[in-house]
Amino acid sequence: MLFMSAGHWWRNRFSMPWQEACLLGCWFSLCAAESFFACPSSCKCNNSSLEVDCSGLGLSSIPSDIPTNTRTFLFLNNKLSTLPGPVFSNLSALQRLDLSNNFLDQLPQNIFNDLGNLTELQLRNNSIRTLDKDLLQRTALLRLLDLSINGLAQIPSGIFDDLPALHSLSLRSNRLQSLDRVTFEPLVSLQQLQVGDNPWECDCNLRDFKHWMEWFSYRGGKIDQLACTLPKELRGKDMRMVPMEMFNYCSQLEDENSSIVLDNPGPPCTKGSPTPSKTKSGPEPEVEPSVVCPQKQRYRPVSVRRAIGTVIIAGVVCGIVCIMMVVAAAYGCIYASLMAKYHRELKKRQPLMSDTEGEHEEQKQISSVA
Ligand SMILES: *[C@@H]1O[C@H](CO)[C@@H](O)[C@H](O)[C@H]1NC(C)=O
Ligand SMILES: *[C@@H]1O[C@H](CO)[C@@H](O)[C@H](O)[C@H]1NC(C)=O
Ligand SMILES: *[C@@H]1O[C@H](CO)[C@@H](O)[C@H](O)[C@H]1NC(C)=O
Ligand SMILES: *[C@@H]1O[C@H](CO)[C@@H](O)[C@H](O)[C@H]1NC(C)=O
Ligand SMILES: *[C@@H]1O[C@H](CO)[C@@H](O)[C@H](O)[C@H]1NC(C)=O
Ligand SMILES: *[C@@H]1O[C@H](CO)[C@@H](O)[C@H](O)[C@H]1NC(C)=O
Repeated sequence: MLFMSAGHWWRNRFSMPWQEACLLGCWFSLCAAESFFACPSSCKCNNSSLEVDCSGLGLSSIPSDIPTNTRTFLFLNNKLSTLPGPVFSNLSALQRLDLSNNFLDQLPQNIFNDLGNLTELQLRNNSIRTLDKDLLQRTALLRLLDLSINGLAQIPSGIFDDLPALHSLSLRSNRLQSLDRVTFEPLVSLQQLQVGDNPWECDCNLRDFKHWMEWFSYRGGKIDQLACTLPKELRGKDMRMVPMEMFNYCSQLEDENSSIVLDNPGPPCTKGSPTPSKTKSGPEPEVEPSVVCPQKQRYRPVSVRRAIGTVIIAGVVCGIVCIMMVVAAAYGCIYASLMAKYHRELKKRQPLMSDTEGEHEEQKQISSVA
C-alpha cells in the first residue's frame, strides 16, 4: 500500500527533474518504512521481531508513540510508578510485556484489558501491594506471570479464573502469609509455581492450600520451597514436609464452627450445582469446588475425615477389648480363688454357706475396683 502511494506520487510528479524526484522518492520510501515500525525516540527497536526496548532510560512514563503492531515491549529498569488506564489500549498485538524493576505500586483494574494476545507478563521487582481480582480477566493466552519481589500480602481469589493457559507463576519474595486453594484451582495448565521467600503462616488457613500443593505435585507440577515462618515449632520447615496429621486439630475447630453454623442456618447449600469439574482425576475427587456452599464446608479433605473416623473406631474397639480383658481377668481370679477355697473347705468338710458369702464379698470388691 505504501509503495502504491509512493508510485501515485511518482506519477503525479513525473515532470520533476530526475535526480530531485529520486531523492524525494527515496526519502518517502524511508519515511513510509519508518512509519510501518517507527521506533519511539531513544528506544531500541528490532524490525524483524517487532520488539521495542525502552529499558534503562530513567523514564517515568510509557512513550505514547509505540507502534501498534509491537509484539514485545521491554520497559525494565525505569522509574515508572503509575500507569494511566489506556496506556496499552492500542497494543492489542503485544505478546510480551516486561515492566520489571520499576516502582509500580498499583495497577488499574483494566490496564491489560486490550492485551488479548499477551503470553508473557513480567512485573518483577516493583512495589505492588494489591491486585484487583479482574486485572487479568482478558488475557486468556497468558503463559507466564512473574509477580516476584513485590509487596503483595494477599492474592485476591478469582484473579486467576481466566488464565487457563498459565504455565508458570512466580509469587516469590512477597509478603504472603497464606494462600487460598480456590484461587489456584482454575490454573489447569500450571506447571511451575514459585512461592519461596514469603512469611508463611503454616496454620489452619494454609491447610487447604497444602492439599492443593499435594495434588499439584501429584499431577507433575513443580513448586519451590514453602518455608514456614509461623508457628514457632514449624519455623524454617518446608510446608510440603509437614505431616498432614499436624492439621488434624483444624477439622476439630471446623467441626465446632460448623456446628455453630448449623444452629443458625444461612442460605441453603446446593451441592449439586453444575460447576465444571476441572480436577478430573485428582486423588481427592470429593474436593470439587462448589460455588454455593459455604467455604468452611467446601473443602473438608476426605483423608482427614477418614483419619478421624479411624481414630474414633479404634478407640471404641480398644476400650471394649480392655473392658473384656479386665472382666476376664477378674473372672479368672474369682474362679481361681473360689476353687482354692472350695478345695480347702472340702478338705475341712465345712458347710458351703460361708463360701457363698465370701464369694459375694469378693465379687463386690473386685467389681468396685473394676
Ligand atoms: C528499522 O527500520 C527503520 C526504518 O526502515 C530503520 O530506520 C531502522 O534502522 C531499522 N532498525 C533496525 C534495527 O534494523
Ligand atoms: C532481531 O530479531 C531477530 C529475530 O528475533 C533476531 O534474529 C535478530 O538478531 C534481532 N536483531 C537485533 C539487532 O537484535
Ligand atoms: C490509540 O490510537 C488512537 C487512534 O490512532 C489515538 O487517537 C489514541 O490516542 C491512541 N491511544 C494511545 C493511548 O496511544
Ligand atoms: C492479536 O493480534 C492481532 C494482530 O496481530 C490482532 O488483530 C488481534 O485482534 C489480537 N487479538 C486480540 C484478542 O486482541
Ligand atoms: C529492583 O529494582 C531496583 C530499582 O529499579 C534496583 O535498584 C534493584 O537492584 C532491583 N533489585 C533486584 C533484586 O532486581
Ligand atoms: C472458627 O470460628 C472462629 C470465630 O468464629 C474463627 O476465628 C476461627 O478461625 C474459625 N476456625 C476455623 C477453623 O474455621
